[in-house]
Amino acid sequence: MKVIVGVAGGIAAYKACHLVRNFKEAGDEVRVIPTPSALNFIGAATFEALSGNSVSTSVFEGVDEVQHVRLGQEADAVVIAPATADLLARLAAGRADDLLSATVLVATCPVIVAPAMHTEMWLNPATQANVHTLRSRGVTVLEPASGRLTGVDSGPGRLLEPEQIADLARMVIAGQKLPRDWEGKSVLITAGGTQENLDPVRYLGNRSSGRQGFALAEVAAQRGARVCVVAGATEELPTPAGAQVVRVTSTEEMAQAVAEHAPQADALIMAAAVADFRPASRAGAKMKKGQDEAALNSIKLVENPDILRTAVLARERGELKAGMAIAGFAAETGDERHSALEYGLAKLERKGCDLLMCNEVGVGKVFGERHNRGWLLRAGEGEPEVTEVPDGSKYEIAGAYLSQVLRALDQRSLHG
Ligand code: CTP
Repeated sequence: MKVIVGVAGGIAAYKACHLVRNFKEAGDEVRVIPTPSALNFIGAATFEALSGNSVSTSVFEGVDEVQHVRLGQEADAVVIAPATADLLARLAAGRADDLLSATVLVATCPVIVAPAMHTEMWLNPATQANVHTLRSRGVTVLEPASGRLTGVDSGPGRLLEPEQIADLARMVIAGQKLPRDWEGKSVLITAGGTQENLDPVRYLGNRSSGRQGFALAEVAAQRGARVCVVAGATEELPTPAGAQVVRVTSTEEMAQAVAEHAPQADALIMAAAVADFRPASRAGAKMKKGQDEAALNSIKLVENPDILRTAVLARERGELKAGMAIAGFAAETGDERHSALEYGLAKLERKGCDLLMCNEVGVGKVFGERHNRGWLLRAGEGEPEVTEVPDGSKYEIAGAYLSQVLRALDQRSLHG
């Protein structure tokens, strides 16, 4: 894939180096087009070395090749990070006063823009109007993250992490749009694995990476939702931009956090790998080989609460919003009696939720991987609707999943 990485003149320009690296490592051909002011922050030599291609900022360089036309026509995607308030204004006005803006005018491929600026500049009606204009023309303008800005300031306007930009951009390039169809809705998402302590140093846990839950949170926030993530153990992942994150360890803690936040939510998505059992007792001090042999040899387990089922029952009792959608995942293995899909359909009925994504698991499959596949099972009036989800990144899966949750929400509001 031929990717143009556009870089505007903001302090976050240094993060563009990691973005270029990310695309290069995935095997993409990268051409960096900085604005002239971006070169006040990062030298052209850095971008040339990282991309393996020459760098120019003006349409008056390489005139014989008519660079802006050639680059714009040949690109499979233009990803601009960071985009300053000034660049957003110039793009919205359709200006062509440097190589980057001229190239964007020529490009017919997906254009993905990751803004970065001070909170006041981002929230200014002029900038918001420019963002609106660009979105209405099909440009994907990502929501910036909230957090530490230059100096001591903090608020929305921080550039997303390069990995997040690359993942969201790849999703858009693969054909999944980021419509603002979740605006005004609130979603509660669980992610990662729960861990059950045996003693102060040992626990029972699972291999969940948290990637699917975080991708759902990321995509939901980019589609305009208010997002709260209840996260157990995850890999070292960037915090989903714009989401409130509540950290928990055990299943009981996760159940408590879900119970606390669910009444405000329009949708609950249980993407966490929840430990079904916990040790019946937890030692206050580290168990020792010689002394606690009997306890270590026969760890007695008791069943944990089923968080998803508890939420379905709470909704039935009228303790949650009546039109709330409740969705989960079903990691299944097929056997000689039934296929993974059949087990998934049985689980949808047993749990009484609106949607389940069923996927086949095994050692090395799905957990921790960046790709996933399976079936989306949606409960309805009659037989459940089964939609096959082809192999895709966890972001692409998140996009398809969130669209089905919206359909479940619509269905509940029709019948509720
Ligand atoms: N889940 C939950 N609480 C639990 C166990 C699971 O809320 N104690 C949720 C998971 O987050 C997932 C769905 O239920 O969304 C299905 O999880 P899975 O582990 O596939 O199913 P189990 O209920 O554990 O059923 P089984 O072990 O029989 O397959």
